[in-house]
Amino acid sequence: MNSVLPVFASTSLQAPIGVFDSGVGGLSVVHEICQHLPDEQIIYLADTANVPYGAKTDEEIRALTAIAVEWLYRKGCKIVVVACNTASAFSLDFLRQKYGEYFPIIGLVPALKPAVLNTQTKKVAVLATPATFRGQLIKDVIEYFAKPQGVEVIAVTSLALVPIVEEGKQHTVETQQLLQQILSPIVSSGADYLVLGCTHYPFLKQSIGYVFADQMTIVDSGQAVARQVGRVLAHQQLNALPKMGSQPTVSCYFTGGYTIQTDTLLKQLLSPQVTWKIAQFTAY
Ligand code: DGL
Repeated sequence: MNSVLPVFASTSLQAPIGVFDSGVGGLSVVHEICQHLPDEQIIYLADTANVPYGAKTDEEIRALTAIAVEWLYRKGCKIVVVACNTASAFSLDFLRQKYGEYFPIIGLVPALKPAVLNTQTKKVAVLATPATFRGQLIKDVIEYFAKPQGVEVIAVTSLALVPIVEEGKQHTVETQQLLQQILSPIVSSGADYLVLGCTHYPFLKQSIGYVFADQMTIVDSGQAVARQVGRVLAHQQLNALPKMGSQPTVSCYFTGGYTIQTDTLLKQLLSPQVTWKIAQFTAY
């Protein structure tokens, strides 16, 4: 793809919000944006040809994310949300330097702040991909936020969970057993907060709750990101005009092709209030 973009930004109020993730995980963020900003249209891009990003190198993640952001720009988006902790960890500064003049770019970092502020045991756990822990964003939040509060952050990682959500297996007995294995040491350590540091993981909340009942409070970044999108749009005077009885609409694009399972998965993951369509398979 030619990386020189035409120098115009989409400043139309009715232009879509672009949301990107390595796979279907970013739909957990889309869900929150739809709740918070129901008049907006969303273009969702899932790089399913390359999921999972969690095991890729820093350079690979950066390059794939840049391609996705350019693609969303060409679709006429007025703002882009990198709804992937892993992609944000390596790409946010780079993307803002490269494309920040075209449109605002919002990224994600695990929601450590509310956990740090509310923990009673002074121990919180973060579940994220290995790549997210390698990145500087999470290191900064631990250094500048958790440490001064005397809160210990326990890092937990697994490469198995993203594929489970991609395959729609988040509620199976096998998944619950795996979660038990991964998370039991955290509960034993005395952590009272579990931060879901990957946008795929909110889809595992029900299974985590089933296995651990109320032993830990679970937090994720979805609502905070949706509020931030609203603030940035308002600041730039780019909010879509309110329409009577409007329903959020999401057009979903997949780089890795589309199967009947994709359809089933979207029905499982997106709330029934959202009007969505599989726009098309795209290989850029
Ligand atoms: N949803 C991505 C995240 O938030 C998943 C990363 C992956 O593809 O491994 O980190």
